[in-house]
Amino acid sequence: MINVVYDIKIYREVLRDIIKQDDLVVELGCHLGNSTKIMAERAPKGRIITMDKSEEAAQAMSELKSFHHNVEFLKADVRLHETLEKVARMLKDHGGCDVLSIDLGGGHYPDTTFKVFFIWSSTLRPRETIIRNRGLLDFMHSSSSSEIIKSSEGWLESSGGDGVPPRLKELQLWSTNI
Ligand SMILES: C[S@@+](CC[C@H](N)C(=O)[O-])C[C@H]1O[C@@H](n2cnc3c(N)ncnc32)[C@H](O)[C@@H]1O
Repeated sequence: MINVVYDIKIYREVLRDIIKQDDLVVELGCHLGNSTKIMAERAPKGRIITMDKSEEAAQAMSELKSFHHNVEFLKADVRLHETLEKVARMLKDHGGCDVLSIDLGGGHYPDTTFKVFFIWSSTLRPRETIIRNRGLLDFMHSSSSSEIIKSSEGWLESSGGDGVPPRLKELQLWSTNI
């Protein structure tokens, strides 16, 4: 399932609901790790691979990792193809990603967030995805259509492999502003 939220409290409630004890969770945008802690506690037999590009996050995560041994942090820009490749390689022997969690700044950048969601989820094929983004939530509730195209996994599986892998080369740094 694909969950879209904005309120940080709802984001964390949904994380508590969807994460199982042996899940492998990929988190994009951990900041100080306040949601990462919840993930680590919910999946004591699992693994949390989390990323952020900020120095502030790197410092906070090095502390958090000493309390939660199931957490691995990469200081990386998730818009870069090389970041996705690195994580895909890390997951190869684990059986894949169970939960993909994306919060690149919930109030901003619906365009970047959707592109990151589409490319990461089409590649990792998670059971569940949660996206924290106000613009995407607004778009969902403000649009309508007489046509139904729907997916039940954490990625757009009903659209098949459209765009992946040929469009993976698009996942390069396309803005230096965030
Ligand atoms: C709202 S904060 C995340 C809050 C966190 N999810 C929580 O629940 O406490 C957004 C984070 O996304 C990170 N971010 C934004 N764009 C990014 C990118 N392209 N690559 C990696 N991290 C990014 C920012 O550095 C920031 O720390």
